[in-house]
Amino acid sequence: MMDQKVFELLNQQINKEFYSAYLYLDFSNYFNSKGLDGFANWYMIQAQEERDHAMLFYKYLQNEGKSVVLEAVPKPDKVFENGMEVLKAGLEHEEYVTSLINNIYSAAQEVRDYRTMQFLDWFVKEQGEEETNANGLISKMELFGSDPRSLYMLNQELAARTYSPPSLVL
Ligand code: FEO
Repeated sequence: MMDQKVFELLNQQINKEFYSAYLYLDFSNYFNSKGLDGFANWYMIQAQEERDHAMLFYKYLQNEGKSVVLEAVPKPDKVFENGMEVLKAGLEHEEYVTSLINNIYSAAQEVRDYRTMQFLDWFVKEQGEEETNANGLISKMELFGSDPRSLYMLNQELAARTYSPPSLVL
C-alpha cells in the first residue's frame, strides 16, 4: 500500500514533467522565431524527453495499482529578451525539478518505500545529466554567442541532436 503523501507527490510530478515539456516547447518556439533552428531542435527534443518522464511517473503509479489524477498544465508565460535568458531559465528550471525529485525521494525514504526510491534512482541520475547539459549550453553560449559565425556553428551542432527514448522501461 503506497503512502498517501508519496502518491500525491508522484502524481504531481506527472504534471510538473508535462509542464517541463510545455516550457521547452515554448523555448523551442522562441528560438524558431529567431531563426536558430538548431537551438529550436535541441529544445524540441528536450520537450519529448520531458513527456517521456511524465509517462514514466504515470506508468509507475498505474503499475502500483494507483489511479492517476491528471491536472491542468500551466501556461508557460516567461518573456525573453535574448537567447541567454532562455538557457538560464532552462538551468533554473532543471534545478527546481531536481529539488522536486529529491523531495519525493525524502518522502519515500521516510516511509521506507524502497520500490519508489529505486524507481526514483533513475531520475536522480537523469537530473544530474539535465543540469550538466543546461550548464554546458550556457558555457557554449558565453563562449560563442556574440560572434555570428561561431553562433552559426553552435546552432549547427545543436541541430544534430536526435531523440532517443529513455533508458528506463517500465
Ligand atoms: Fe524531467 Fe528535465 O527533468
